[in-house]
Order: sequence, then structure tokens, then C-alpha cells
Amino acid sequence: MGYSRQIYREAERRLEIKRIKSEQELDKRRELLFARSKRAEKITYELAHTTVLAAHIVLARGNVREEVEKLREKNIALRMELYGILDKLGLPENYLEEWHDCDKCNDTGYIDGKMCRCMRSLLRSTAYEQLNRSSPLSISDFDSFSLEYYSDKKDGGQSPRDIMARVLSFCKKYADSFSTGSRSLLFQGGPGLGKTHLSLAIAGKAIEKGYGVIYVSAPVIFSQLEKEHFGRNEGTGTQQYLLDCDLLIIDDLGTEFPSKFTVSALYSLINSRTMSSKPTIISTNLTLSELQDTYSFRIVSRIIGMLSRVGFVGNDIRQLKNKKHKGE
Ligand SMILES: Nc1ncnc2c1ncn2[C@@H]1O[C@H](COP(=O)(O)OP(=O)(O)O)[C@@H](O)[C@H]1O
Ligand SMILES: [Mg+2]
Ligand SMILES: [Zn+2]
Repeated sequence: MGYSRQIYREAERRLEIKRIKSEQELDKRRELLFARSKRAEKITYELAHTTVLAAHIVLARGNVREEVEKLREKNIALRMELYGILDKLGLPENYLEEWHDCDKCNDTGYIDGKMCRCMRSLLRSTAYEQLNRSSPLSISDFDSFSLEYYSDKKDGGQSPRDIMARVLSFCKKYADSFSTGSRSLLFQGGPGLGKTHLSLAIAGKAIEKGYGVIYVSAPVIFSQLEKEHFGRNEGTGTQQYLLDCDLLIIDDLGTEFPSKFTVSALYSLINSRTMSSKPTIISTNLTLSELQDTYSFRIVSRIIGMLSRVGFVGNDIRQLKNKKHKGE
């Protein structure tokens, strides 16, 4: 996928920060070493000095070969001594070299003018970060999801807690084994039951694994699709990301103001993604019949047909938390 110049600039800026950091870290390591060994400091200084000397000899055109050979031997002896000191102190051989995240390109992003793999993945993650800038990604995770909020009173054999325990374990498994071949899901249930929470938790895991994830609310995606339709959306490339990303999360379906056009655009978006086996997770507070009333029966059936339904039950946790907060 092509990236905008702004994304390139941002990725290059990040690499530069990395390089500056590794220089600073080297300075720190050097100071620490010199505090422990005066001899190491002396050798480091002399090693720097021998390089300068070699340059002088070449310039002076004296008995160049002999002098340079002597210096070379001295240089080797000093290095060996320095390695010995590092070894005694339990430090690695490369202690006085810059440490890079990527040894292939030394964090420059390029090898012989060709883009390094690390740069490719940095561009990708930078682009996805920018796309998710205004969304609450990283707010929710599995660890902060508690089953205590769901009643354990059995209603016909199963309590809400039993059901939600299964939902939670399903979502965890889904996230752990997430790949571009994963199935698409429909999170359905009343407000405040943890749909957004769990979809963000899945997003977090997928991002951790290096997948490109986009999280959007239905009103945002619908206005995007509409802009594209009327050709007012110039060069943001967002549409392409909606199609290309590894996981698309559409939250709060049913809260937007639907038009005939946007609903069929949504259908074709999910359809194209399904065809290229790219999963989508949709959340909605609406029941099936409410969805069918809001959109058309035909389109809703076709969309539902591409998703596996995950039903959320219980009492509004937002309200439960507020009550607890007020001490009621
Ligand atoms: N099982 C849970 N444990 C802890 N907090 C939860 C749980 N479910 C929901 N919440 C919190 O309650 C609030 C509403 O949940 P949310 O996921 O937004 O509900 P929904 O999307 O189903 O309307 C959020 O702040 C969320 O983090
Ligand atoms: Mg929600
Ligand atoms: Zn690299």
C-alpha cells in the first residue's frame, strides 16, 4: 500500500529519535565504564588518537608503511586489552558500540538504498496509529474485564454470568488466535454490557501481533462512505484502509443516521472484506428486528449472514459502576 508523505516523514522522525537515543545510551555506557576502569578510559582515548596519528603519517609521507604497520599493531593490542577489561567486568564485547534495534540497517531504514523490512513495518504501524488517533484504542483490555458485574442468578438453567463467561473466553481465544482468516463477528446486546470493551481488547491483542487494525464508530464510517460517494473526500486514502486493514471494528451500528446509500455501501464494504477473508467486528445495541426496521430486511439478512453472532446479556455496567461510585 502507498503511504502519504506525512507518514514517511513521521516514520523517519521516529528512526532518527531511535538513533539519537542509541548514541546517548552509548555515551552513558561509556561514562559508567570509565568510572569503573581508568585504564579503559585511557585506552579508548589512545585508540581515538591512533586513528588521528595514522592520518598524520599518511599526510607527512615519511616511512609510511612501517609507521602505519606499527600503529596497526598497537591498535590491535589496545583493543585486545580493552576486550579483556570488558570481559572481566562482565560486559559484552560490543559494549562500546551503538546498539541498534535493527542490525540490518542500523536503524537508518534503508540498506543500499533499498527499504529495510523494519522501515516497512514502521510505516505500516505509523499509518494505522494515525488512523486510530481519535479512537479509544488501548483503553480496554481483557484484564480489566470482570465477570462480577453480571448476575449469577440462574434464569432457565444459565445465569448472565455463565453466558458472559463463555463470551469472554470466546473473545480471548479469538484474540489469541487472530489472523486474517478469522471469522467476522456481530456483538449484539443492550447498552453498557461490554461490547466496546471486548472489541477494543481484541483490537489491542491484534495490534500487539502486528496486525493493522482500524476502529471506527458507525456514524464516522457512514459519513466517510458518503463523502466518497459524493466525491468530496480528497486523497485521505481512508477508504482504502477500510478495505485493506486486517481487522475492521465498526462500533455502535444503528446510532448513525442511515440512508439507502450508506447501508448498501456498508454491505459492499463488508462483502469485499469477506471475499478477501479479512475479518470485521460489528457492535450494535439493536435487536435483529430493530436492525431490519432501521435498514432493509434484505441487506440486514445478507450482512448478518457474513457474521457470527455473539450475544451480550446483563445489566448496564455503566450504570452499575456509577451507582457504586456514588455509594448507593
Ligand atoms: N465486564 C466488565 N468489566 C469491567 N468493566 C466493564 C465490563 N463491561 C463493560 N465495562 C465498562 O463499562 C462501560 C460500558 O461498557 P461498553 O463496553 O462501552 O458497553 P457497550 O459497548 O456494550 O455499550 C465501559 O467503561 C466499560 O469499560
Ligand atoms: Mg459500545
Ligand atoms: Zn532495518
